[in-house]
Amino acid sequence: MCGISGIIDQKPVTRNLLTSIANLEYRGYDSCGMAMLNGKGIEVRKNTGGVEEVRSREKLDMMTGNLGIAHTRWATHGGVTTENAHPHLSQNGEFAIVHNGIISNYQKLRERLIGEGLEFRSTTDTEVFVNLVEEAFAQKNDVLGAFLEALKQIQGTYSIVLLSSHDPEHLYCVKQDSPLIIGLGEGCNYIGSDINAFLEHTRKAVVLDDGEFAVISRERYEISDVGKREEREKSILQIDWDTETTKKGGFSHYMIKEIFDEPQTARQALDVPQEQIKQLAEMFQNAPHAYLMGVGTTFFICQMAQYLFSSLSKKYFPAISSDEFNGVVPVSSGELVVAVSQSGETFDTKFSLNVAHEMGAKTAAIVNVMGSSISRMVDHVIMQGSGPEICVVSTKAALAQALLLLRTALELGYKEGCLDSKSFQSHQKELESFPELISILLNEKSGFMRNLARITSSVQNWIFLGCGIYYPVAMESALKMKEVTYLHAEGMPAGFLKHGTLSMIEESVHSLFFVPPPAEVDLHNRTIIAIEEIKTRGGTLVGLYFEGDSQAKSLLDHAVELPPVPSLIAPFVQMILAQMFAYYTALDLKRNIDKPRNLAKSVTVG
Ligand code: G6P
Repeated sequence: MCGISGIIDQKPVTRNLLTSIANLEYRGYDSCGMAMLNGKGIEVRKNTGGVEEVRSREKLDMMTGNLGIAHTRWATHGGVTTENAHPHLSQNGEFAIVHNGIISNYQKLRERLIGEGLEFRSTTDTEVFVNLVEEAFAQKNDVLGAFLEALKQIQGTYSIVLLSSHDPEHLYCVKQDSPLIIGLGEGCNYIGSDINAFLEHTRKAVVLDDGEFAVISRERYEISDVGKREEREKSILQIDWDTETTKKGGFSHYMIKEIFDEPQTARQALDVPQEQIKQLAEMFQNAPHAYLMGVGTTFFICQMAQYLFSSLSKKYFPAISSDEFNGVVPVSSGELVVAVSQSGETFDTKFSLNVAHEMGAKTAAIVNVMGSSISRMVDHVIMQGSGPEICVVSTKAALAQALLLLRTALELGYKEGCLDSKSFQSHQKELESFPELISILLNEKSGFMRNLARITSSVQNWIFLGCGIYYPVAMESALKMKEVTYLHAEGMPAGFLKHGTLSMIEESVHSLFFVPPPAEVDLHNRTIIAIEEIKTRGGTLVGLYFEGDSQAKSLLDHAVELPPVPSLIAPFVQMILAQMFAYYTALDLKRNIDKPRNLAKSVTVG
């Protein structure tokens, strides 16, 4: 999704602006640009392509000035062209803006402006807004007044930063349903669509709420309500993320670096105070009905949690994809909706949470990004503390979410009397050993996963299968495979196979089985039955199984054997190895792993 940056400093800002948009690259984009106020006026340079490409083509580092705005654009209104890239200048070149979101009534406004003789350079909704500011300035001769006047005319979702040659002392910004955060420096201030835009320079930030605008100078910032124009006191957020964790640290891609971060991420998830887990468990306990909601990877994490709650606390909490939530859940007062979101900005999840809230439901969330919208809109939030996740596809953040939900299911199981204190304690011990265990596994098994990927990277069609909780593991792993390799991978319950998909089976169709430990007798038996169904029909069998499983070993054509681990954590171990498998397959296929085509890290539009 698009990224926004703005800097106002006593020193030249060119280099920092460039780094800030490079730090927003992970969000996914197709063009970028910068606008700076130099001694002569506003200069805009922009083009299609990545930050490095546009920097060298447009010589972005030759720009000068000590205030500027920058943008990475993920096309929504209008194709991927230089003209449509941001920043957008007004007709007379005295105003420039960057904008995230969608101005829903822009067509009408555009037609009016065209009728009045304006010639548009782009087909974007953004260019309409900057010209509304120019038009209002002609009446008011006041930048803030013109900005607010233009805002009155637009509808939709937006975060906008405005730069004007009439005011070299300020940047202006506004937020409505699209995130915007101010970073507070010494003698300089920053604006970003997320904290990665300025994390290198400051750990102090102020989060704008919907309907707020800010006027920002080098030394000060003033936040007010758009409607009443009254100044608002806002609390300062102290960000404790470590910038080192955002660096690749010697790995060739963020994805594999983030997979290798997982022991640490798991530790951080286990360090989240038990009090917060208890509070969430109580919310589940007290609600007449509770739902789990997420989209993409987080939906599959919710599905895993559905099995965890069912087995550990004998409760059924349906998992629903956020985009479908409103269509199927008649949520009512007193019920509980628990959202899971790495970014905390996903449109579908935010939207459904809002509806739930309006219906009087209680809300809770597990979120990674501090200060994000979802983290601030729910009744109870658990910050997962996984640090920045840069690769578009989620790995370490997803693992942390699953562990936090597992901890909640254990707590609820204990409260509900489904687990006595002995088994509760023994599960806690198993969890404590998990970070160390995956650290060993990652090191010992990466070579095997690499080899498996080499053998199978030419496979075009995959079916990923599992039973019980291994079913959402299979679904999530298939999604991971699709996302980074662009190959067809379909996840499904192993028992589903014989009800249709079996007709596809022949040698070239490969299936990947997530085989549970043999101690999980029922799940294991059901999985072996599905393996045999494929074997009989000549399909090629690939699998992950645990040591001592002679049945799986003899049936699978290509397999990776894992050391015995407690049943509670076995699905998580397999999920991590499947992430590696997707990574190595994509590596063999030379895919754009950290930024797969057509995908964005945080989808903030509906
Ligand atoms: C996008 C990303 C997915 C992610 C989903 C949910 O589609 O490409 O990888 O799973 O959003 O994101 P969230 O930030 O809400 O977890």
